[in-house]
Amino acid sequence: MKFKKDFVFGVATSAPQVEGAALEDGKGLSIWDVFARIPGTIADNTTPDTTCDMYHRWKEDIRLMKELNIESYRFSFSWSRILPDGKGKVNQKGLDYYKRMIDELHRQEIMPNATIYHWDLPYELEREGGWLNRDIINWYGEYASLLFREFGDSIPLWATINEPIATYVGYAAGFFAPGRKNEQYGRQANHHVLLSHGEGVRRFREENLSNAEIGIVVDIWNHHPLRADHEGDKKLAELENEKSYRSYLNPIFCGCYSEGLLAYMKENNCMPQMMPGDMEKINQKLDFFGLNCYNRVVDCADPELLKKQKKEFIGGNYMDNGAEYYSKAVYDAAHILKDEYKLDIPIYVTENGTYNCTEEIREDGSIHDAQRIQYINGFLEWIKKAIEDGIDIRGYYAWSLLDNWEWSGGFNARYGLVHTDFETQKRTCKDSALWYKNMIREVKSQY
Ligand code: NOJ
Repeated sequence: MKFKKDFVFGVATSAPQVEGAALEDGKGLSIWDVFARIPGTIADNTTPDTTCDMYHRWKEDIRLMKELNIESYRFSFSWSRILPDGKGKVNQKGLDYYKRMIDELHRQEIMPNATIYHWDLPYELEREGGWLNRDIINWYGEYASLLFREFGDSIPLWATINEPIATYVGYAAGFFAPGRKNEQYGRQANHHVLLSHGEGVRRFREENLSNAEIGIVVDIWNHHPLRADHEGDKKLAELENEKSYRSYLNPIFCGCYSEGLLAYMKENNCMPQMMPGDMEKINQKLDFFGLNCYNRVVDCADPELLKKQKKEFIGGNYMDNGAEYYSKAVYDAAHILKDEYKLDIPIYVTENGTYNCTEEIREDGSIHDAQRIQYINGFLEWIKKAIEDGIDIRGYYAWSLLDNWEWSGGFNARYGLVHTDFETQKRTCKDSALWYKNMIREVKSQY
């Protein structure tokens, strides 16, 4: 089986992870700008102030994409660059930046794929309660409408939200911005993020754009029981699936929270406040689905046993540092969408990649990252199998074009196909970038 001629190969980034210029040209602070300044929140105590400096280097980076045969670039808008207070006054310099970048993508025949919200809530909105304040549905809606009006015609693929679970992590688990730790807050923030997604879709339809589609990006980390016949392991894996992907996909595609999640929220006293009509708002027809897929998770009721048995997971592969990866995860996720949710819209794999591999810098300056190639290739093979099963997967985006600022992981987690020297901002293609480039050329030259 080969990929079809129009299967899209892309790369993905997000604004706070690559743009830098966090305090420049009128941009307002985001919750990550503030959170990163709290000692102990970021692994290497860094901030997103400069990251890859793409705000100034976008032209060279687009040229680099072109050299690598990249067909589509998935990026996100920075809400606080465009609306420094999150609402009200528009920062024209922010709009101009994205306009220049999008024009250049078109000039280079690289399809833009834009995410409206990739975790960087304007700090001024957080001061008003952020995702806990129901008014955010309208704040988000106004921001989304502004983007549709400014860029609607020049962006064919729009995602309302990237990985809504990040909001839960930020309000319940505390290791993402804004760093709050309350389960009920997490569930409430989730509910508002889902409603904002619905509001975004509604406003998108209002604009009647002729050449644009709207979807959402959700990550699926399917949980497996370590011991297939162990009740405790099975129950745990089941609950984790309820608390992760089903928390989003059930409301979006079925218009309700699952029984399992409702029971969990009741028992744990963390039911979000809901209003009549909320589920209808969340459950709207989408044009495509964005799937982020990195791995599976293996659960065991006995954590000691889990540690001991690590190397023995059936079907797993292992990186040099011992981390498991499971390329079939993408096939399983595609089947969850088809079998559990009866999805009948196109799917794009909007993120996949790894930082767990060794990178050997050779004397000639080349960077050998064989395991990243193996990892990506493994996922692509399973994507082909899912397509063979009749699942409509239209594209694949490697995370990421560049080594960038990995949230709480700081600069230590290097996901790039291209190496970034954060001192000099020099970009160096790793072997994986060159492999990706050749692979795309080979696929396309068959037609
Ligand atoms: C999920 C997120 O969308 C992205 O921002 C992050 O860097 C990658 N996965 C890797 O963790």
